[in-house]
Order: sequence, then C-alpha cells, then structure tokens
Amino acid sequence: MKQKQLVIILFLFTVNTGWCQAPNGGKNDLDWWQKTIFYQIYPRSFMDSDGDGIGDLKGIISKLGHLKESGVDATWLSPIFKSPMVDFGYDISDFTDIQDEYGTREDFEALIKEANKLGIKIIVDFVPNHTSDECEWFKKSVKREPGYEDFYVWHDGRKGADGKIHPPNNWISVFEGSAWEWNKERGQYYLHQFTAGQPDLNFRNPKVLAAMDDVLQFWLSKGVAGFRVDAICHLFEVEDLRDEPESGKPNNQSYEFLEHIYTKDLPETYDVVYHWRKLLDNYKKENGGDTPVMLTEAYANISSVMDYYESKDGVQGAQVPFNFYLISDLNMNSDARDFLSNIQRWISYMPVTGTPNWVLGNHDRPRVASRFGPERADGLNLLLLTLPGIAVTYNGEEIGMVDYRDITYDETKDPAARRFGFSEDFKEISRDPVRTPFQWDDTKNAGFSTAETTWLPVHPNYENLNLAKQKSAERSTFFGLAITRDVLAFKRELKGEDTFVTVINFGSQEHTVDLRYLGGLPDTLIVAAAGSGSIYREGDIVEAVSLKLSSHDSILFRCITVNKREETAQLVRTALTVLNASIVLIIVYRFYRGSFKPNLLYKSV
Ligand code: NOJ
Ligand code: MG
Repeated sequence: MKQKQLVIILFLFTVNTGWCQAPNGGKNDLDWWQKTIFYQIYPRSFMDSDGDGIGDLKGIISKLGHLKESGVDATWLSPIFKSPMVDFGYDISDFTDIQDEYGTREDFEALIKEANKLGIKIIVDFVPNHTSDECEWFKKSVKREPGYEDFYVWHDGRKGADGKIHPPNNWISVFEGSAWEWNKERGQYYLHQFTAGQPDLNFRNPKVLAAMDDVLQFWLSKGVAGFRVDAICHLFEVEDLRDEPESGKPNNQSYEFLEHIYTKDLPETYDVVYHWRKLLDNYKKENGGDTPVMLTEAYANISSVMDYYESKDGVQGAQVPFNFYLISDLNMNSDARDFLSNIQRWISYMPVTGTPNWVLGNHDRPRVASRFGPERADGLNLLLLTLPGIAVTYNGEEIGMVDYRDITYDETKDPAARRFGFSEDFKEISRDPVRTPFQWDDTKNAGFSTAETTWLPVHPNYENLNLAKQKSAERSTFFGLAITRDVLAFKRELKGEDTFVTVINFGSQEHTVDLRYLGGLPDTLIVAAAGSGSIYREGDIVEAVSLKLSSHDSILFRCITVNKREETAQLVRTALTVLNASIVLIIVYRFYRGSFKPNLLYKSV
C-alpha cells in the first residue's frame, strides 16, 4: 500500500509542474475561490450545541476553529432551511428561513460574522429543481391560486386500456418508481425527480425563475459567498413529455432502467446557469465585496459538465462545475495510471479560462476511506489538496472517517433507502453510512452531542478514530494549514524524535508566511537544509511567525528542542543541491516511511 502512495505522490508533482506553466492569466490575477478548499459541512451531523442529537448552527460556530486550523477558508453547508426533512433538507418548505432544529436567522447571521472574523466564507446550498410539498408555492399551486397554477409540472394523466388514469409517461424518479404522483385535491399528477415530497418546479414559467432569483438575492444580502446548486441537470424536461427509451438494464422501477435523454442535461438548463452567473456578477458590481461563486452539482458526461463553465460563445456560467470523476470513475482497484488519465481528462476538456476542481467526497457517496481503502486515505487527501486548482472535501475526510455500514433498517433515515422496506437492498442504496456524526473525540457520542440518542448512530470506531486523537497521535491523517496557492508546508513528528517542517514555494513570487498555523511549533525554527535559491543556510534561526520565502524556495526546518538527526539534514541537503524540490519531497517521504505514516498538513497549491 505504501508503495502505491509513493507512486501517487510522484505523478501529482509532475502534473503540478505542468499546470504552473499554463495558469489562467497569471497567478497574480487569481481570485479567492481559485485557490481555496471548499469544505462541505453536513450540518445535521457536524456539531450539536443543544443536546437534541441533531447538529446545528451554534454547533458549527463552536467548531470554526477546526476549519481554520485545517486550512479551510470556505465552507459549503448542506441545506439549513425550513423543511419537513423528507430528504433531510433537500425538500425546502421556506427558502429564506432556517429550520428550527438548526437555529434561527440570527444564528445564521452570527455564523457569518464569526466565520468572517476567521477569514472563512460561507456558501449555502441552493435547491432550485424542487420544493417540499409543504412549501406555500406548492399549496397554492394545488389550489390553482392565480399566479401559481403553473409553478409545478402538472398533468391530467393518460387513460389506460383498463379505463383507469395512469401517469402521463414512463419517467422514473432518481429514487426509483414513477416520477409522477397523483394529487387528489387538484385532480392531476405532478412530476417529482426525487421523492414525492419534492415536487419539481416548472422552469418554463418565468415566475419560477424570478422567485428563485429572489432567493439568491436574499442570501447574498445576508453575506453568503456563493451557492452550491443542487441537482442542476434535472431542471428541465421535454415539454411534450415523451417516453424515455429503455437502457436494457433490468428492474423497471430503477432509475437506470431508462436512458434519461428527455429529463436530464437539457440545453435550456445552461441558459439558467448563465443567467444566475450574471445575477451574481451584477450583485458584486452593485455591492462590491468578494466575487460570489456558483458550484454546480451535475453527475453527467464530461461534455455536458463542461458546458456549465461557459457557453460555446464564452458566456460565463459556474466557476466550479463539480468534477465528480475522481468519485465516479475510480475505485479500490484504480492505480496511478487510472488517476493520471482521470486528471488529465478533466484538464483536456476544460475551457482555457476555467479553473480545475477536484471533488473527493460528499454526503451522497461513500467516504474516501471506504471507497479507496483506509490505507489510501492519506494519499488521496494529499492528491486532492495538491492538484492544481480547487479542492472540494467533505467533513470527516480530514480524519479519514469510514462509512458506518451496520446501521439497521430501523435506524435508517435516508428516504432513498427506506423505500426498499426491510430487504437486503437498503444497505446498498443508503446514504446514511456517510452521514454519521463527526468524530471529535473519545467522549460520549464522539463529542458530537450530549443527547442519549443521536439522529444517526455514531460510528462505534470513534474511540480510536477521532480528531482529538489524531491531533496528538504519533501517526495521523490530520491535515491543515492555510498558506497560499504557491506554498506547501507540512510537519512530520514522532514522539521522542525531532519534529521536521517542510516548506516549499512552488511559485515564482516571494511570500511571507506564518508557520504557526501548523500548530504546536516553537516560536523559532532551525534551518536543517535549504534549496539553492533560498536566502537561508543550514543553522539559521527563523521566526515561525513570519518566514520569508524566495521564489521557488524549499526549506527543511528542525524544531530546536530535541536531539540531533544529522543524517536527515545531510540527506536532504544533498538532495536539495542536486535535485528539484518535488524529488526532495519524495526522498523525505522515503526516508521516513519506515517509521511514519504520512502526516501532511497542506493546502491547495
Ligand atoms: C442532490 C443532493 O446532494 C442529494 O442529497 C439530494 O437527495 C438530491 N440532490 C435531491 O435534492
Ligand atoms: Mg441540536
């Protein structure tokens, strides 16, 4: 396994070097979102402040320090809005209010304020495709109230040979079964791409678009830094409601049974995305401040995904069309060649003005450690965070949490799984294993909540696998550090041995960086070795608070406290004079790999 990690490290530096030579418009022009980590918080499972077993906004506020320490400067929150929780917040009944169990609008304002103090930006989830069936808009539409008649996709249905009324076509919902639900009161079917509690909005109605524009304006005015746009590829369906062709796959209730050529990735979708980009750009023009960003969620073929960046004519869309290919196209058996071609494919298809992004996990897909094997979690985190462009990660991945697959059917909450009833299949479908509470420490409920029962069970491995333990452990996967896009820094420590800190400036600009974000360092560090372009020499003493780096600098520090490991310095010094920094990194890694598990603290470079 270690050998494989080494291979991954090798090629990722190759890729990085290539990218450095062809940046988009020069590094000086990079906007905040181009050099950040987007860390997804699943609010229900992050931190519970009031002991009800459910995470909440005050809980998030109390843990902002963890984000800061981890080098995270933007966080995307899964939905926190009013919702009957049929799909755990992805069924919104009021788009501008906060769900009671998560807190209040005031709590949200406090979150923005506290996060901003730490330089952390808050991104909210924007769910335009559907509402809850408890949303006022839906209730009004059911009653055909003026202005709301066509807010959703309604249809009388088809009369079958049996003389009965059937759904208008064969469309299947993502969560399986017919995508149509009969509404008695209105006497019509409505379309739902997800659960029946999530009726699809009718985006062919300009009033719907206007209502959704208002939602974006509302949250922008509250100080959010952008939006993760949910299920964007499902926004439109063909108007004549044609049947979709069968794919040849079995199970006529399953979403895979049909080819979704009339209900997904329709060209109209992109115009709405470009329209929203304009709205965000105009907001900035009118109000100043940082660029608001749009991150779009679409599991689709690569050409369709690329169209979210910009139109053929260069009309701008989402800055971050999520790149899910590291998730969808790779697995336990993937080797370095698979990774490399996967990475190169995204870069080849991306428009030249685009910024690459890399998504390694989210609340819908198994965790990295479960998908690739726990031994590879470190290597995968390193890959994600050192690839050119934007890293997108999910809470818990930084400590290598694993899926909790022993959740019983009675404990299962995910509607996608519950519809199977108590059968073998529910475990294959359930997204609950990736949504269990964050493992902070080894106290009750992993420090997540003081409640007797938490909304989903805590993974029983929390006593060994938790953040507190990793912070103090000899071997750890905990990462963290905010420096710059150019500067990579990491700390290697083993009890009873010297602690070493590696700092590499991959860029041509000079930087002054504060190494104290690595945590647990003395105020001064001693230079063990430095690259040829460095102003430092072996034995120099530097202040951790403000380390000056020349262009392409590379320095190895020893924390002055402990006994000598002269051979390390000698090895690295020799390597530095002869080889380039990426090779040195590998040598340091090789040197240590007998006694260390890689414990890299890093940030996107
Ligand atoms: C994608 C979300 O990530 C998922 O959790 C949700 O069930 C669907 N969209 C429906 O909103
Ligand atoms: Mg709570």
